Amino acid sequence: MLGTFKNVLFILVAISALAITSPAQKISSDPRGHEWWKHSVFYEIYPRSFADSNNDGIGDIKGIDAHLDYLRDLGVDAIWITPCYPSPQVDFGYDVSDYENIDPMYGTLNDFDHLANDARKHNIRIIMDFVLNHTSPQHQWFRDSASSRNSKHRDWYIWRDGKAPGVPPNNWISGFGGSAWQFDSTTSQYYYHFFAVGQPDLNWRNPAVENAMFDVTRFWYKRGVAGFRLDAVDLLFEDPELRDNPILEGKNDLGDPNMVNKYNDKLPEVHTELTKLRMVADEYDAVLIGETYTANREELKEYYGGRNDEIQMPMDFMFCEVNKLSAREFRAQIANVESTGGWPVYVIGNHDMARSYNRYGDGVHNDQIAKVMAGMYLTLRGTPIMYYGEELGMENNDPVRKEDVKDPIGIAGWPGEKGRDGERTPMQWNDSTNAGFSQAKPWLPVPASYKTHNVARELEDPNSVLRFYKQLLALRHHEPALLDGDYLALDQDNPDVLSYLRRYNNDAVLVVLNMSGKQQKVRFDLSAQGLASAKPITLLTTQGASSVGSIDQMSLDPFAVYIARLSR
Ligand code: GLC
Repeated sequence: MLGTFKNVLFILVAISALAITSPAQKISSDPRGHEWWKHSVFYEIYPRSFADSNNDGIGDIKGIDAHLDYLRDLGVDAIWITPCYPSPQVDFGYDVSDYENIDPMYGTLNDFDHLANDARKHNIRIIMDFVLNHTSPQHQWFRDSASSRNSKHRDWYIWRDGKAPGVPPNNWISGFGGSAWQFDSTTSQYYYHFFAVGQPDLNWRNPAVENAMFDVTRFWYKRGVAGFRLDAVDLLFEDPELRDNPILEGKNDLGDPNMVNKYNDKLPEVHTELTKLRMVADEYDAVLIGETYTANREELKEYYGGRNDEIQMPMDFMFCEVNKLSAREFRAQIANVESTGGWPVYVIGNHDMARSYNRYGDGVHNDQIAKVMAGMYLTLRGTPIMYYGEELGMENNDPVRKEDVKDPIGIAGWPGEKGRDGERTPMQWNDSTNAGFSQAKPWLPVPASYKTHNVARELEDPNSVLRFYKQLLALRHHEPALLDGDYLALDQDNPDVLSYLRRYNNDAVLVVLNMSGKQQKVRFDLSAQGLASAKPITLLTTQGASSVGSIDQMSLDPFAVYIARLSR
């Protein structure tokens, strides 16, 4: 799914810059002197699917509020809530009709303030989703914009005449299928929408748009929000001349010609704009997280900003595009992000890609493999962003009939492209009806595996995926080497076992992950690190510590995770 979504939406062009120095700015740090987000574990919540407090089949803000204890106990420091603003829900909230309110289906601003207050008491920060590339056509800005060619907001969106009657201004294709231009008969012009027809693109070249959007961020910062996840940030600007994109051979899953989005993706202006958005964020010590689909390290590096003055946390999607359990490929991608000089941001799942449980699982050892994945992305240098339910081993539940599909991408692409419903199903709290998410029929059905993979049951099972996540997250919060240590790849030619050190002062944590279904033998010569005679103290392992052996002769069970502290 990720591959498809990414291919459809983002065919990429590359440019680069350097990202090391930091401008003078006040940034709140934790007691160890780090910016708070570097020591935090983030957790993405899809509010429709997390917890339904009023039993209407759709999750809500009060539902999130009621589960803060769970999140705190799990080891989550910040939650990113995907859009919960008023919206016609064409793209389930990614079509915003009012940036400064909460959709009634999710509650009220008052509920949000309660949540913010309770979250503070739980030491959990809130990150909102900023859908800055486009609005809903129901937004008052667009309504005015569409009303006449002379309206106050006309130039807030991208309107153009067609090339000829019935022919759109250029050949650009929407990520949701078909032309990216929609004809509007009221003013006899086309408007541009990279995504659905119900998601017209804002014109960021207009300073009035820029100011209004900066004010939106201030509105939420003042309510206590700690930062934003920036939606579809690659796509903020379009070529002023609207030149045609180069066409490639073949068609995509939605039946449209493949093309290079040369003139509407990652234009240099994006970076200028991000430095301005960052200046506003810095007024409030806020963090910006980027939905940054990059094709290579240069593009990723550029998002940190030439003076570390753009996005503090650009997500590295190249990491989760390693769509198989491959020690070799993960090692290469970790080296890739490490080489940017920026602070890595690791993600293995989200609401746009099939769940990691399915992408990496072999269908037989999925729970073990889920632990291997956790053992990796929660121990690397950088900040991890979890996706709700990942800690349970929640699996995809794809629709089987077209009439059940909710996601516009699935509707357009059926049956080849089933859309994103499968990864957005309700959180599995217990084994009662609808997994304890709601007493009403949920907006999407839970998979049958909720009977075994749910919070209540897994809390009782010492071998569950959830218990493993809890142990790992506790470790991550307390081991200085996991928080602040550097990353050193070991045994770099090994195709089956991913191993590395996190070194900090005189300590190091050794992480060894068997990514194969076979018993593996490994040995580490750590004399160059001054750790040759270090005695490993096991911190966490999925196999009996005594059966692992010593660092110069280690025996690993299939899909084993072994994490140990080494002291000089
Ligand atoms: C981002 C969101 C995705 C949405 C799209 C349009 O890619 O993650 O869910 O459909 O933007 O807003």
